[in-house]
Amino acid sequence: MKLWGGRFKKAENKLMEDFNSSLSFDRRLYYEDIQGSKAHVEMLAKCGILTKEEKENIRNGLDLILSDIENDVLQLEGDYEDIHSFVETNLIERIGQVGKKLHTSRSRNDQVAVDLRLYAKKKAFEVIENIDELKNVIVKLGEENNFLMPGYTHLQRAQVVTFKHHIMAYYNMLSRDKKRVQNAIEIMDESPLGCCALAGTTYNIDRSFTAKELGFKKPVDNFLDGVSDRDYIIELLSCFSIIMMHLSRLSEELILWSSKEFDFILIDDEFSTGSSIMPQKKNPDAAELIRGKTGRVYGSLMSLLTTMKGIPLAYNKDMQEDKEQFFNSLDTILSCLKIMSGMLSTLKVKKENTFNAVKKGFLNATEAADYLVNKGMAFRDAHKVIGEIVLYCEEKGKPIEDINLKELKNFSQLFEDDVYQFIDYENTLSRGIKTELK
Ligand code: ARG
Repeated sequence: MKLWGGRFKKAENKLMEDFNSSLSFDRRLYYEDIQGSKAHVEMLAKCGILTKEEKENIRNGLDLILSDIENDVLQLEGDYEDIHSFVETNLIERIGQVGKKLHTSRSRNDQVAVDLRLYAKKKAFEVIENIDELKNVIVKLGEENNFLMPGYTHLQRAQVVTFKHHIMAYYNMLSRDKKRVQNAIEIMDESPLGCCALAGTTYNIDRSFTAKELGFKKPVDNFLDGVSDRDYIIELLSCFSIIMMHLSRLSEELILWSSKEFDFILIDDEFSTGSSIMPQKKNPDAAELIRGKTGRVYGSLMSLLTTMKGIPLAYNKDMQEDKEQFFNSLDTILSCLKIMSGMLSTLKVKKENTFNAVKKGFLNATEAADYLVNKGMAFRDAHKVIGEIVLYCEEKGKPIEDINLKELKNFSQLFEDDVYQFIDYENTLSRGIKTELK
């Protein structure tokens, strides 16, 4: 079923018809398509291009189509080129000739552009809500687990931190992620409706009216740009890629921490799976899937950047390729944010194990060096002295705080009894800037 054909002598090849059709994926724009059309006819009537009666007829028809779709009476399938043809053909079937007036002063080019912007904006807000939810979960997890744990560089135990401070690093990443999405919304918030195919229209229409009706800040300034840019989709995909990169790093840590080698956390049964052959196993599949799905979101970004890079202004059919990539990444990011929230809200931190790892890691070695510096030794010399003490401790199988003063004095006469207070893990956190770690 087509909305064109007057200038064709032969029917379209079936292969070509299938190749060209986008209904199977752009059907998820049905709501935005109908909203866009309703605003459009409202404006046409206001500008005297349609009568009030024609407008009412069309709007009622569109409302009926919407409720039939939402009540599963009308299935979004069939022999249609896209969601726009689907809605328009259904409208004409329902209300007759007057339905053919809907497309006055409009092209599918500005129609799809407005649908996609509305949809992208709505879904970007949903992403923000899910980021907020995850941020709340992280704050709670941090508050409940303000315990000592090793901080790492090069995946080697480095200095003492708290679990709270570690997990709150992700809170901060997510706060910036949220700002990036908010910024993308702010930039995309302009209406392309009324640009028509590429060059506007001979009718005296009111683009500001439709922009306002549809909740956009203003109409776009340039017609060619309005119908043919997809940078807002690329920008969102880039925001999503950064979010996935953050979620993937966190996933990697959860996978490591849940292994017997670290044994810092317990991922709840609700978010774990088993092995079909090894009965003892509990696998961190949720985290692994998030880490794995990061690839497809990066892929979408690369795909669309590449699709767009060589196409001349204005609309070209290449741009139909934007939707599957965007929808897939959107679904992926929403499910990953939800799964991460679920996994973190049920996570248990093994306080004793994180503390034991702190003790075994000589994580107060830097503080011990600072102690000597406070007593007048140059830092480089102190670094060497403590290095020798660590070697000695390793041979003895003891942490620094378990070495007695006499032994310590063999390395430097500057050591006094107060060293034990100074290198106590709790105390290391309450000094200077480090109080922020608590
Ligand atoms: N399905 C098309 C897309 O997603 C809609 C726009 C069609 N425009 C056109 N001139 N054929 O891009």
